[in-house]
Amino acid sequence: MGAVLTDALDLLICPHCGADWDPDASSRRMLVCAEGHRYDAARQGYINFLTGRGSRLTPDTAEMVLARDRFLAAGHYTPIVRALVDACTRLPDGPAVLDAGAGTGYYLAAVLDAGGRGGARRRARAVALDLSPHALRRAAKIPGVAAVVWDVWRPLPLAAASINAVLDVFAPRNLPEFARVTRRGGLLLAVTPLPGHLAELRSRLPLLAVPEGKAEELEHAAQGHWEPVSRAELAFPLVLSPEAGADLAQMGPAGHHTGREELERLIGGEELAATAAVELSVLRRR
Ligand SMILES: C[S@@+](CC[C@H](N)C(=O)[O-])C[C@H]1O[C@@H](n2cnc3c(N)ncnc32)[C@H](O)[C@@H]1O
Ligand SMILES: [Zn+2]
Repeated sequence: MGAVLTDALDLLICPHCGADWDPDASSRRMLVCAEGHRYDAARQGYINFLTGRGSRLTPDTAEMVLARDRFLAAGHYTPIVRALVDACTRLPDGPAVLDAGAGTGYYLAAVLDAGGRGGARRRARAVALDLSPHALRRAAKIPGVAAVVWDVWRPLPLAAASINAVLDVFAPRNLPEFARVTRRGGLLLAVTPLPGHLAELRSRLPLLAVPEGKAEELEHAAQGHWEPVSRAELAFPLVLSPEAGADLAQMGPAGHHTGREELERLIGGEELAATAAVELSVLRRR
């Protein structure tokens, strides 16, 4: 993580008491708040703010994260990356970005990268939050990213009005907290699946059905703090090798209870064709 922890001192607050950090006591490897609460960075670069609290939620395992990493690195979801990068052209120079449920930080890396290419004089910075330390090992390697193990349903360990854009891609959304940490005029970029997402594969593989109206629900829940800017449906074909198909199933909730061998047996060595269908909602903080 290098100097990033100290770079992010003004974005993060103590998860225990909400105080700011003591800049003299904090270092590249440790954050110490004004009240003396201490958090060590892991050797792999992320910092765990959930220590000693436990969580009812089960983080993604190393195998699930590997499957996600392979699937995304193969470029199957490139159209989603492009849509997010396009939506980010509205951000100011050197933005501070929050990726909630960041996973490996795949989309965040592309957004930060595009910010740099746009001739930004100041480097973009980001906080990646996720329950899974395995996923955050990867996110922590992205330049400018402070990777923090946290449950997004709890009050976020971020300073009020510190963020220019919140990314939320296939992840839980804590809208009141997103509003608190985002500056006026800042953006929320949310990618949600449509009912047709991967529908062709559901008879074959243990994938969750997607209910109707996720983006509408988001806009409704966001009323008050956020005004809708745009909503775009994105549908594109996927052709998946048996391995990529197994990765796709394993990287989702099925990865918690269905083993790799069982997923491969269900696919039966065949190539799979499916449609990815998602919606990108852009909202602006009032
Ligand atoms: C479907 S994955 C999406 C990951 C990433 N945004 C992507 O698209 O590659 C959902 C992510 O949300 C994380 N997650 C689920 N519940 C969470 C929670 N309550 N707090 C933080 N992260 C959570 C999971 O660990 C997982 O990495
Ligand atoms: Zn504290």
